[in-house]
Amino acid sequence: MPATLPKTASFQEKRRALAHDPHRPAYHFLPPANWMNDPNGLIQWQGQFHLFYQYNPNGPFHGTIHWGHAASEDLVHWRDLPIALAPTPGGPDEEGCWSGCAVNDDGVPTLVYTGVSPQVVCLATGSDELLAWTKPAHNPVIAGPPPELEHRSGGHFRDPYVWRADGRYYMVIGSKEEGVGGLILLYRSDDLVNWEYLHPLLRGDVNDSGPFWTGTMWECPNLLDFGDRQALIFSVQATHTDLLYPVYYTGRLQDHRFTPETGNILVHGHCFYAPQVMRADDGRHLMWGWLKEGRSPQRYHEAGWAGVMSAPIELSLRPDNTLGLAPVPELKALRGRGWHYEGVGLNLGSFELLADVQGDCLELAAVFEADEVAGGGLLLRRSPDGEEQTRIVYQPAQKRLVIEREQSSLDDEVDRQPCSLPIDLAPGEHLSLHILLDRSVIEVFANGRACLATRVYPSRSDSVGVGLLARDGRIRLKSLDVWEMKSI
Ligand code: FRU
Repeated sequence: MPATLPKTASFQEKRRALAHDPHRPAYHFLPPANWMNDPNGLIQWQGQFHLFYQYNPNGPFHGTIHWGHAASEDLVHWRDLPIALAPTPGGPDEEGCWSGCAVNDDGVPTLVYTGVSPQVVCLATGSDELLAWTKPAHNPVIAGPPPELEHRSGGHFRDPYVWRADGRYYMVIGSKEEGVGGLILLYRSDDLVNWEYLHPLLRGDVNDSGPFWTGTMWECPNLLDFGDRQALIFSVQATHTDLLYPVYYTGRLQDHRFTPETGNILVHGHCFYAPQVMRADDGRHLMWGWLKEGRSPQRYHEAGWAGVMSAPIELSLRPDNTLGLAPVPELKALRGRGWHYEGVGLNLGSFELLADVQGDCLELAAVFEADEVAGGGLLLRRSPDGEEQTRIVYQPAQKRLVIEREQSSLDDEVDRQPCSLPIDLAPGEHLSLHILLDRSVIEVFANGRACLATRVYPSRSDSVGVGLLARDGRIRLKSLDVWEMKSI
């Protein structure tokens, strides 16, 4: 945060002080200042959406974790609300209020969260408008991992996620078994206070690397109910500083046992992590994730903020039991000026800038003709001389979509590794990319079934060009729509 701003500055003053930072997203939610990680406690309460988040009010680094809080009527515009949870000196959350969920307990709003250290399960009950939270004297309600894991989990026991079924509460919680793999533990309760441990709902195997590696520890589990199928989503750690990606398995939850049928990495790019999913009143499964920084701690200390929330994403179960992902249609409310192109063709080795389109806050929808999607794609955040540019390129031979970042920024305190998404097009299938660009944030949704997210930090203020690129052959765009996006 700028040195002149006191710690006691209001949320509004903090937001104003950072408003001119060219890397700070304008239409993705992020805290007024300082550090943010996971979304927490997502709930629709009296019609309004409430988003809590892992927040450090004391600086742009992970420490003294509180629960920040914001609310929205439309999923797009957010209002800052007072911090919901703060560590209580001498209490079981003395070293931090880590991730958890929100439950409507017969009309009583209740947060079920992780107290540290050691990692335990705590409760807090809210006032009717969710503005004041009280921690009951009987915290923690679960004092640690089940006895059978006590010496084998390394104390990893966090991120409770609760749902109701057969008139009772069920909870999944993330853990690990040293040397064996990640674990999701299942519990049951009648009152959110007394919990009975049932068994592991899913176990990982550190030695199994395919089709994707599931790491050493599992955190932030979610259970989604799609009727005759369920999905388990969780995030996978390699080590506590190497956070890999969120993964999912769909299958059936029957008699308290989960049988996975299919699974995959949920969002690619090593940037999107620790998502939480809520069931909206209209039945949609809505997801937000933490978009990590892609620059050095020194850079985000200088900036005064770190971490941003993903766009709200709707998850759906597809006929082949994989999960579909799409940004919610409510985001269309932010569209400003728009451009529409049809039937643009480009030949091998060429690129073309869109003459009238420029910007660092844009939404793009591009449909490439199937039989002519050669190696090519889109250019974003390009400086007029091309010194800085980010390329989103489809590589047909590798069946991958790649975001090439080696020229994304001239600053070498920034991660410039490429990131990619496997995507296998069926014969005749178009490649349809839906892209959200918000200054340093890029989210790409491909054919409604795959997502790639990353961060870029161009250092030049004129890196705002948009273009098309043909690398290995002829590409043909069936259509391209671009909209300017308004700030929230
Ligand atoms: C995931 C995570 C959670 C934990 C929280 C702490 O990013 O490590 O497992 O509860 O962050 O801030």
